[in-house]
Amino acid sequence: MVELAFSILAADFAHLADEIKLAEEGGGTIVHVDVMDGHFVPNITFGPPVVKAVRAVTKLPLDCHLMIENPDAFIPEFAKAGADMISVQVEACPHLNRTLQHIIDHGCQAGVVLNPATPIGMLAEVLPMVHHVLVMSVNPGFGGQKFLPRAVDRIRLLAHIREEQGLNFRIEVDGGVANDTVASVVDAGADMLVAGSAIFQPGKTVENAREFLKIARA
Ligand code: DX5
Ligand code: ZN
Repeated sequence: MVELAFSILAADFAHLADEIKLAEEGGGTIVHVDVMDGHFVPNITFGPPVVKAVRAVTKLPLDCHLMIENPDAFIPEFAKAGADMISVQVEACPHLNRTLQHIIDHGCQAGVVLNPATPIGMLAEVLPMVHHVLVMSVNPGFGGQKFLPRAVDRIRLLAHIREEQGLNFRIEVDGGVANDTVASVVDAGADMLVAGSAIFQPGKTVENAREFLKIARA
């Protein structure tokens, strides 16, 4: 079953608890938290205190997408704050195997993220240990960017490798996923769909999430 991981980056931060409730009412089943440090990406967002606050207002799993340098240093804090899944960018991890093991040792599901220009082959050695692979379909840093269509072939290749190797990691896609692009990524094999600006909209969030999932599950 494909799932909507709604990105709270596009929500109204002053009413985060209400925003999460609306996205959940619309069918969203994962809270996607975009953590940015102003170094790995040219933007700053939130850290463990916000994860902790979100943890207190929802039972949905929290999917923390770390767009930060030296993620190892912060994994314990995010785990303690209530993260269920932690994803790290392969480009920020010279010791990727160790970093993923660190996430697992802290009781979280480990994910690895690829920027649009990073070859899928970079993951060859770690695929058996990850819970999910996140394929970026924009260059990370901001919500509301245009979907890069090459992501579709990249997802298809990953799904093929998964099948060939008998693995069972999930495939997540993030960036510009909306009603006009979601069918192509699901068809290619993605099953965790991150969407922010396509979902959060004053007065329309529930309806947007429902419509998005209707298309994704058609
Ligand atoms: C981009 C973030 C995304 C972003 C998605 O750097 O990782 O999760 O919030 O936003 P939309 O769905 O608006 O592209
Ligand atoms: Zn993200």
